[in-house]
Amino acid sequence: MERTFGHRHILDMKQFAAADITTILDTADGFKEIGRREVKKVPTLRGKTVVNLFFEASTRTRTSFEVAAKRLSADGLNIAASTSAVVKGETLEDTAQNIVAMNPDIIVMRHGHSGAPHYLAERLQGVSVLNAGDGTHEHPSQALLDMMTIREKLGRFDGLKVAIIGDIAHSRVARSNLVGLTTMGAQVWFAGPGTMVPPDFARLGATVTNHIEEAIDGADVVMMLRIQRERQGKTLIPSTREYARVYGLNAERLKLAKPGALVMHPGPMNRGVEITTEVADGPQNVILEQVENGVAVRMALLYLASGGDGSIQPQV
Ligand code: CP
Repeated sequence: MERTFGHRHILDMKQFAAADITTILDTADGFKEIGRREVKKVPTLRGKTVVNLFFEASTRTRTSFEVAAKRLSADGLNIAASTSAVVKGETLEDTAQNIVAMNPDIIVMRHGHSGAPHYLAERLQGVSVLNAGDGTHEHPSQALLDMMTIREKLGRFDGLKVAIIGDIAHSRVARSNLVGLTTMGAQVWFAGPGTMVPPDFARLGATVTNHIEEAIDGADVVMMLRIQRERQGKTLIPSTREYARVYGLNAERLKLAKPGALVMHPGPMNRGVEITTEVADGPQNVILEQVENGVAVRMALLYLASGGDGSIQPQV
């Protein structure tokens, strides 16, 4: 099959031009409908093997890639680091080379170290590597499903104000969204406490503030992030209650955004900390729609990384 997408590995949002992002989102739009059919399966990737290699916990991303592979008729299998020979001291590269010896077509990997998928992509032959989140670096499939949801709901990116609020310093979701959204013409604001949103993050292309109200004011999209305690070396906030009071999204603060602004969260969500239950379950939230779109985006990524040209006719 002729390859016109041009990306064998999907490692970060920096690798994509605007046209690539549009191809991925258009392809995902085409695949979404399959998930609503009675028979949720097409033969597009029949005979392909997809390995999910997860070195960190995941609910949404791992399940979503697994469902996506099944809907495309690929053979999928999951390897969790905690039940693999990694616990016996095997290196990442040795683990991966042993998996590659079984001739899979795609390895989907989540790892706690930034750059781990890039490391493997440089060393492995004959297999595509898809980054399912690496350390504090990037989480491209999450940004793409967020972007699919924004485009579906608001019809465009150009000129939108997107406020991303919380533990930006440790968020691969924030980084990937910043790159993807600014590539498509949106304005991204980062907000949170100074310990989690250092002023020099402005060099990445976001507008940075430590006042959440300033970021939400007139926003088209408000994306809340959890505090990533597992990546913080020391405590960065005085208390969870204080954080919720100053940086949490509640109904009063949401009124500062544009009427009908989207409330997003990549999950896992800490209700009562970064977002109140009233807002998380309120009429502006699109959080579960993000999850549904995640399957469609991952179908698109598996298909395109396998050499699909973006002209899929998923009615097969
Ligand atoms: N959004 C996200 O990456 O969630 P999981 O950690 O559950 O995969």
